[in-house]
Amino acid sequence: MELGPRFPSREFGLPEEFPELPSQPNVQIRPAEGKLGVLIPGIGAVSTTFIAGVEAIKRGLGEPVGSLTQLATIRLGKRTENRTPRIKDFVPLASLEDLVFGGWDIFEDSAYEAALKAQVLERSLLEQVREPLEAIRPMKAVFEQDYVRRLHGTHIKTEGTKYDKALALMEDIRSFRERTGVSRCVMIWCGSTEVYHQPTAVHQTLAAFEEGLKKNDPDIAPSQIYAYAALMSGIPFANGAPNLTHDIPALLDLARERNIPVCGKDFKTGQTFMKTLIAPGLKARMLGVHGWFSTNILGNRDGEVLDDPGSFKSKEETKLSVLDTILQPHLYPMLYRNIHHVVRINYYPPRGDAKEGWDNIDIFGWLGYPMQIKIDFLCRDSILAAPLVLDLVLFLDLAQRAGMRGIQEWLSFYFKAPMTAPGLYPEHDIFIQLMKLKNTLRWMQGEDLITHLGLEYYD
Ligand SMILES: NC(=O)c1ccc[n+]([C@@H]2O[C@H](COP(=O)([O-])OP(=O)(O)OC[C@H]3O[C@@H](n4cnc5c(N)ncnc54)[C@H](O)[C@@H]3O)[C@@H](O)[C@H]2O)c1
Repeated sequence: MELGPRFPSREFGLPEEFPELPSQPNVQIRPAEGKLGVLIPGIGAVSTTFIAGVEAIKRGLGEPVGSLTQLATIRLGKRTENRTPRIKDFVPLASLEDLVFGGWDIFEDSAYEAALKAQVLERSLLEQVREPLEAIRPMKAVFEQDYVRRLHGTHIKTEGTKYDKALALMEDIRSFRERTGVSRCVMIWCGSTEVYHQPTAVHQTLAAFEEGLKKNDPDIAPSQIYAYAALMSGIPFANGAPNLTHDIPALLDLARERNIPVCGKDFKTGQTFMKTLIAPGLKARMLGVHGWFSTNILGNRDGEVLDDPGSFKSKEETKLSVLDTILQPHLYPMLYRNIHHVVRINYYPPRGDAKEGWDNIDIFGWLGYPMQIKIDFLCRDSILAAPLVLDLVLFLDLAQRAGMRGIQEWLSFYFKAPMTAPGLYPEHDIFIQLMKLKNTLRWMQGEDLITHLGLEYYD
């Protein structure tokens, strides 16, 4: 492992030469040999922006802005050591050249056609990556109208029970592997948001779940069938939407049993990203919050799906949970007990993917004096989400090669509703999440964890 030079600091009276202390990795990481298959249920705005972006970056047509795996550095050791390699030089990640894409959708459009329809990237850019995008033709989806009410696709597996459909997905995976010769795969759900549903008896054990698949239990959602097929095929699974999906004992047990890493849920992009930047700051200064009103206008297909109250309920749940967990009203009742937190998403077609998110935050300070903060974020949903997909794919593959299994809480950084062990509240503060992520990488490679104590500099 190359760790970059260590520079001595005269300022701190440290020796000219540091002994090069070889760190002892805590985990053995298998090398990223061969190609990595990226399997995506949902060839829509986010996934095509991700795939087209990777192809564009490979050709030098753009930069991977927003991606930690491609751009971020990681500080190692003491501040005086000046060791800050890039993350991708510090841990063995798959390279962009090694990614091979495949997926499923309820529409037959190739990734090129889907990207054109999504209208996120300019046509002139898409033309330059047309060939690889046209080659990605979605496989027939497992779909159920009751779970996504606003879409009516025809490219769907119709034969047999839910169990037969799971087997058909596993067969798709097997033939994708054979066709492309990939050595490993990761699956990431970029499909539409399914309606809100809670775990029931069928989700509690693997036996009950498999029985439910065979009996076509209505409580088993299509995304759960994909997750099951991935795990049964030994493939790590990430969920970019707020669906329940693999956040159920049956599938989490399966992941642990089979030593497969998983993570979710719901990419943390526009408004919630802002929330997890601002709220920890207000709390850090012990400023109070009376209310937080968030509203969005959005005109893409995701917006259309979220216009259905059932799908919106899934989204609302993940968006609302963030503030409570960051502000901890049970610890600070005077500051945060009575927050009026409202989240709205309005489907407004003229805006397409260029979402506008407004926040009005009513805060109070010294002696209770009120103040207001207004945020107007003119963002691009899929432009914010694409680098997260890339990082999640590369980090989940790393976790798999490092022998890590079950929920990967260190990837909370990427999610609105991070999955955690039962009974553990999720960490939403983005800066704590980032520290957790980087400390996990340091831990993997046997480097000291960074606590930011820093007393040793003043001894
Ligand atoms: N863009 C963001 O910033 C962001 C942030 C957080 C979460 N998300 C979530 O990511 C997901 C994708 O977003 P998007 O903007 O690409 O939406 P999109 O509507 O453009 O794409 C979703 C695709 O999934 C397909 N689909 C639906 N059900 C399917 C199934 N059962 N099997 C296979 N394909 C299926 C749809 O046909 C569609 O093409 C959504 O659930 C969205 O809520 C997006």
